[in-house]
Amino acid sequence: MSEQKVYQHWRKEQESDGIIWLYIDKAESKANVLSRTVIEELDALLEEIEGDKPVGVVITSGKSSGFIAGADVNEFTTLQDQDDGFALVRRAQAVFDRLEALHCPTVALIQGFCLGGGMELVLACDYRIAVDDPKTKLGLPEVKLGIHPGFGGTVRLPPLIGAPAAMDLMLSGRALSAKAAAKVGVVDHAVPERHKLTAASQLLKQKPPRKKATGWRAWSNNGLLRPLLAGMMRRKLAKKARQEHYPAPYAVIDLWEKYGSDPKVMMKEEATSVARLVMGDTAQNLIRLFFLQERMKGLGSKSDFKAERVHVIGGGVMGGDIAAWCAMQGLEVTLQDRSHEVIARAMGRAHGLFKKKLKHPLKVRDAMDRLIPDIEGRGIAGADVIIEAIFENVEAKQQLFKEVESKARPDALLATNTSSIPLETISEVLDDPSRLIGLHFFNPVAQMQLVEIVRGAQSNEALIDAGCAFTKQIGRLPLPVKSSPGFLVNRILMPYLIEAVVLVSEGVPAVLIDQAATKFGMPMGPIELADTVGLDICLHVAEILSQELGGEVPEKLRTMVAAGQLGRKSGEGFYQYKKGKPVKPNDTGTPPPDDLTDRMILRFVNEAMACLREGVVEDSDLLDAGIIFGTGFAPFRGGPMNYTAKQGHEQLKSRLDHLQQAHGERFAPDASW
Ligand code: NAI
Repeated sequence: MSEQKVYQHWRKEQESDGIIWLYIDKAESKANVLSRTVIEELDALLEEIEGDKPVGVVITSGKSSGFIAGADVNEFTTLQDQDDGFALVRRAQAVFDRLEALHCPTVALIQGFCLGGGMELVLACDYRIAVDDPKTKLGLPEVKLGIHPGFGGTVRLPPLIGAPAAMDLMLSGRALSAKAAAKVGVVDHAVPERHKLTAASQLLKQKPPRKKATGWRAWSNNGLLRPLLAGMMRRKLAKKARQEHYPAPYAVIDLWEKYGSDPKVMMKEEATSVARLVMGDTAQNLIRLFFLQERMKGLGSKSDFKAERVHVIGGGVMGGDIAAWCAMQGLEVTLQDRSHEVIARAMGRAHGLFKKKLKHPLKVRDAMDRLIPDIEGRGIAGADVIIEAIFENVEAKQQLFKEVESKARPDALLATNTSSIPLETISEVLDDPSRLIGLHFFNPVAQMQLVEIVRGAQSNEALIDAGCAFTKQIGRLPLPVKSSPGFLVNRILMPYLIEAVVLVSEGVPAVLIDQAATKFGMPMGPIELADTVGLDICLHVAEILSQELGGEVPEKLRTMVAAGQLGRKSGEGFYQYKKGKPVKPNDTGTPPPDDLTDRMILRFVNEAMACLREGVVEDSDLLDAGIIFGTGFAPFRGGPMNYTAKQGHEQLKSRLDHLQQAHGERFAPDASW
């Protein structure tokens, strides 16, 4: 084995059998990413290899964290203009073309994540082997950043696996396991770790024909079929994302339809398209969101708190699902409730969740083993984290925490999931009130990424950091907030939901209200959201917030709850529900009021301004991220504060002034405008 010239981010080793091994190992970085210098070094290496004339080349990772996570997203933020973006992308394309054109066979040996630019690199190799390891994930998630593959991915993937599968991967951004990747043909083989070296050298020696789509998969790329298929793909896509909000997936279809027969031209058009998208608002906002998400994860790294055992008290809607989620994340969980039936129901729901997410029967069994029913609360004494999720009642919570404090370990984290009771009040009964923090999960727990880490005036700051670390440990995003009415997410969401109910009371059809909101970019309209959350819960939160912060609760909400119309769960709310789905009329015959969207969104934004002024959350960046992950607020708009800045403060304030004149004091602009 001989070692040659030393590179900063790559290692090249030539074995005695004539095979060259290239290890990517980006310096000073936990994960491999394809920065400009990494790509330039690859180019220099390829030039060397062209002279070496090896039997073959294996490209693999020198890091145990994974293969390649993608392009270097940091570099997207330093691009000057479209030309700069175009040059960056064309350079990478040229290097990957050089890799593809090497005279010897090349194989990518993939273990761990292989995403975005990493996946595009392996597509330029002759063969791909994925190690069958739960960490192996292959995908092209670029659309999640508002762009699409730019290093030749849109060009190379459809001929390899056929257009339907290729488009599915590029339009959804979803990742495949090693086995799934082998099944669709993205990789040649999925192999157990112990066979990986043999598999790579075998391929290089046997040199089987390169894989490509055959049969109907190959036909799907035919010039006559493409326009037809492209139309179908656009219609399917339109159900999930609007072109004006998310142009990138539409651009992928356009590229393939127009240039799918000419790889060379398509390559150039791919670069032009990515360069245009990356400088656009959607991509810039989504890239910012990506970094904000990293920042939130970073909040969880300030403390080295690590939990092994969690005790959850209250096995209802929230407690049961929090317990299940923690068990699924590998923690040992004891679940306490007064009622056997409640715990049995929670165990049943947990089983359903594990089956859906973990799939493998042994994993499901192990997760069920980690979730232990505990009527007597024996788990309190050994738990690292104790989460209270009993019903929303001050005395009950106080009494419970008094007992918990006397039994818990002195270093255990004590947390409440309360939505509305000040932490200062609950903690009054504790010997050490500074021990209590809030861990406010959202419903449904398994879907909502955000957890508000509630800081009472009495809370110990180190425990807030521990709460963030725990949240990160269970794969959730922590957002520290002040213990004030509604915290951040419910406080901002409620005026928007209430305005929607007021609009219904004025006679505006629910479906028009929801359409206006989804057109703005909300994942679900406010009326359907209220029905989904449950009108009784909405009413409860609305009443508490109006007591604390003023404002009126619409009478309509009270009458509907009194009549048992609770939304989806009762089969009727603002909509009627059939098989859990709302029945919506196609045509209401009434035009929507001109200020419909403003009435909802500006109440949202105005409340966000108030929260920022009151210091409910540390800064506008965290507010934006929290609101996007906690409510789904149009991610491509970058959050309410980013939206406000882009629209212009003056402009929005004058729109609020108009609304105040037309509809009353609830639109009075917050003092911070
Ligand atoms: P729930 O009514 O579904 O469950 C409460 C459970 O606590 C019941 O099963 C009850 O038997 C049990 N319980 C009551 N007192 C107990 C005690 N002393 N010891 C043991 N178990 C006891 O309530 P849900 O909706 O799960 O809410 C729980 C907490 O989570 C509340 O503080 C609520 O404000 C908060 N929350 C609720 C959300 C929601 O969407 N439902 C969202 C976020 C927070």
